[in-house]
Amino acid sequence: MTQDFAGKVAIVTGGASGIGEAVSRDLSGRGAQVVVADFNEEGVRALVDELSQRSGVEARAFKVDVSKPDEVEAMVGFTIKEFGQLDLAVNNAGIGGKSAPMGEIDPDDWHKVLNVNLHGVFYGMRYQIPAMLKSGGGSIVNMASILGAVGWRGSAAYVASKHAVTGITQTAALEYSSKGIRVNAVGPGFIKTPLIETSMSDEAHAGLVGMHPIGRLGTPDEVAAITNFLLSDAASFVTGSYYPVDGAFLA
Ligand code: NAI
Repeated sequence: MTQDFAGKVAIVTGGASGIGEAVSRDLSGRGAQVVVADFNEEGVRALVDELSQRSGVEARAFKVDVSKPDEVEAMVGFTIKEFGQLDLAVNNAGIGGKSAPMGEIDPDDWHKVLNVNLHGVFYGMRYQIPAMLKSGGGSIVNMASILGAVGWRGSAAYVASKHAVTGITQTAALEYSSKGIRVNAVGPGFIKTPLIETSMSDEAHAGLVGMHPIGRLGTPDEVAAITNFLLSDAASFVTGSYYPVDGAFLA
């Protein structure tokens, strides 16, 4: 594997599982120093131990609740303290929330989803951008969803959070692209991760597969490949974009 991220420092939120784990593994394997941040401290420590042994580059674990701005600010401060700079960030931590139609949503459930999926991405960019400006520029990817482009029955809060993530991604790109920071969003279709697999019957799973013209769900590695392409210098003219990775779900 090439070492095209050598000398770069990255933060990945929600890195203990699924897509964030795949992104962290790939970045580390390609030479980046990675702070893997997650609510799940045990999971993130186990992954970082493994990465440090395998790739020969340094990785650090950080326990964070992305819905708390002081903790997100501390995550960025920790990264600067450990590695001296910040070049790359993937704001990926997210939750699905309880399923209910609009007229039956518990307002507390609504806020819980928005606090993690939207406010977590905002707090991420809020503290990563100043650190990147001091580091001479950077690249951010925010994890949206196909449900950042269309609606989905029973998931209004999730849909609202992901539409908003695409909007604030475009806004940050408008504001910071001329200052050397690119900001893009990735929109995965349904991906085989614990988020999907723990919450679904076989019948529902088959129904989902049927919505992807490619004939299967995606894998975390397939999302990581596009995410890390957008982080890389190969995507130097790509900013403010929304990249579906969805087996033609939206086509
Ligand atoms: P996952 O459940 O496998 O991983 C999510 C990670 O985020 C977990 O390690 C969890 O501990 C962490 N997390 C949750 N709340 C947190 C918080 N408040 N602070 C810090 N960490 C927190 O989920 P998956 O599937 O890898 O999802 C990652 C992202 O991709 C999410 O933003 C999700 O909405 C998005 N996505 C996932 C799709 C899928 O089909 N799996 C489809 C489209 C988007």
